[in-house]
Amino acid sequence: MAPAPTSTYSAITLHINGEKHTLSVDHRTTLLDALRERLDLTGTKKGCDQGQCGACTVLLDGRRAVSCLQLAVAAEGREITTVEGLAEDGRLHPVQQAFLDLDGYQCGYCTPGQICSAIAVIEEHAAGWPSAVTEDVRPEAGPPPLTDDEIRERMSGNLCRCGAYVSIVQAVSRAAATTPADRAGTGTTTRAHGADTDSTDPHGTEAAA
Ligand code: FES
Ligand code: FES
Repeated sequence: MAPAPTSTYSAITLHINGEKHTLSVDHRTTLLDALRERLDLTGTKKGCDQGQCGACTVLLDGRRAVSCLQLAVAAEGREITTVEGLAEDGRLHPVQQAFLDLDGYQCGYCTPGQICSAIAVIEEHAAGWPSAVTEDVRPEAGPPPLTDDEIRERMSGNLCRCGAYVSIVQAVSRAAATTPADRAGTGTTTRAHGADTDSTDPHGTEAAA
């Protein structure tokens, strides 16, 4: 019979928004709870807590992930980006700015997850990844036009109980039209320092914790 484990806790170091955070966590702690309950990064929201609503979406090594299904211990060594880490030098990420300009939210609870997802969607599309509604998936066909249907399909893992979908699609479409350099200038995995969470940040620390 295998010996009983002596502890269910481990010390881990998480790389979040360009900063290192060392903490002791129960092995069963999700990344979402570590962010919110241990590190006060409450921009990432808890909706369903079972991988179905997308409110808790963050970027792991630049790819979107629902943090309620990710164990914190398994995120060690990954580059984690939350909504607090997207703005840089007082300038919102183009996706944040588009959500702000086009009213891509109502209550704002789903917005951090929508924004993180949208950032990854735009990069996935630019890299030529097809979606379930892409008609021509041959590699030589290149990236499909980022139509509203493509955006709806690619963002379908992020639910909005306020029903702000029309404006969300418009915001993603506008942000996708910015240059890659504009988008790379803030946030994601290239950040070298921590979050700027000024009063215009939708929705870093302002949205309901
Ligand atoms: S809270 Fe994680 S998907 Fe809903
Ligand atoms: S803006 Fe309220 S849930 Fe999406």
